[in-house]
Amino acid sequence: MVKVLMVCLGNICRSPLAEGILKSKVNSSKIHIDSAGTGGWHIGELPDPRSIDIARTNGIDITDQACRKFIEEDFDEFDHIFVMDKSNLIDVLSMARNDDDRLKVKLILEDISPGQSMEVPDPYYGGERGFEKVFEMLDTVCDKIVNKLNHAE
Ligand code: 4NP
Repeated sequence: MVKVLMVCLGNICRSPLAEGILKSKVNSSKIHIDSAGTGGWHIGELPDPRSIDIARTNGIDITDQACRKFIEEDFDEFDHIFVMDKSNLIDVLSMARNDDDRLKVKLILEDISPGQSMEVPDPYYGGERGFEKVFEMLDTVCDKIVNKLNHAE
């Protein structure tokens, strides 16, 4: 079984959406998907209400999720670790123990715009529109990820 982890800062806005969107596109018996945050402020909480709303508007329920922190053992558990922005990338790579760990980590938009270090912007302090934009970006890139995972099987 392929295991994919989505990582952002708080694990309440972007990575829960990425988890929910990717789950909605794959066969859950073949691919395991989870999400985590590099920060620990919201552990145990539901995703941000604005993420829940934009997901629901698009037919996806993410209210089964609970926030957790990224831990070193996630490098052992997961095959692919997708981070939302460059600061997530630095934080996750700083916990990597070896090249195997490092090779699993990638900016999630890398598959849309290779080499450009594009980021999924943090919508936490913005308005609803930020969440719509984040949803669109993640929906587009998750289609690409699904294609790649299916071809890698
Ligand atoms: P996320 O957004 O990384 O997309 O979940 C954030 C949520 C909460 C905080 C920062 C970013 N916070 O500082 O509490």
